[in-house]
Amino acid sequence: MPTLGVNIDHIATIRQARRGVEPDPVAAAAIAELAGADGITVHLREDRRHIQERDVRLLRQTIRTRLNLEMAATPEMVAIALDVKPDYITLVPERREEITTEGGLNVQAQCDRLGKFVNQLQGAGIPVSLFVDAEAEQLQASARTGAKFVELHTGTYANAKDETEHKRELEVLTKGGELAIRLGLRLNSGHGLTYWNTKPVAQISGMEELNIGHSIISRAVLVGLDRAIREMKVLINP
Ligand code: PXP
Repeated sequence: MPTLGVNIDHIATIRQARRGVEPDPVAAAAIAELAGADGITVHLREDRRHIQERDVRLLRQTIRTRLNLEMAATPEMVAIALDVKPDYITLVPERREEITTEGGLNVQAQCDRLGKFVNQLQGAGIPVSLFVDAEAEQLQASARTGAKFVELHTGTYANAKDETEHKRELEVLTKGGELAIRLGLRLNSGHGLTYWNTKPVAQISGMEELNIGHSIISRAVLVGLDRAIREMKVLINP
């Protein structure tokens, strides 16, 4: 059964709404860990719309589980990552105008460029995960970069409009997971996972970690962060 990485970006989104100091994602990370989070995930975006460098540096010093830094493959981010040394890095595509990450990386189209970033980061002892759609070409290209992990983009599955689409997209993720593992890649998943759609993804063979943010933080606003995380943990790992 997979572990749970809690994405706390949205705690920072609320803080940034007032450009103030609360709620502090560093405090949220401590509560998340006490409630059973197996890792803390943050996305340091180029435009710093939610998580700030200060958060990443303090989290590095304070969390007791694993710090997964999501970032774009750019020289600026690599310099920060090499300095902070998160436990692992997830490379994601990033466009300023998007509301959230809107799809997987096109690894096939930039295999050499991404391979250089993977080499540099993994050479410094930081395992790299590539956020990709569960497509054969993308998974094969991911393996060619030398990255240790892929994170399957579950957004399309999460947006399924009916039972037929849901089944089809789950099959895509299951097949993608099988191929990733055959290619020697370790397997994570995330994006758009909720209390209603996570269970089948958690049951995909070889799944190691699910990264979940929006749904947990949304529930936390109503029931508290501790309870929201405990309820997700039971779903993933009954
Ligand atoms: N995984 C990746 C690579 C992401 O970019 C995000 C969103 O930042 C997540 C997981 C979490 O997605 P959600 O907030 O929809 O749970």
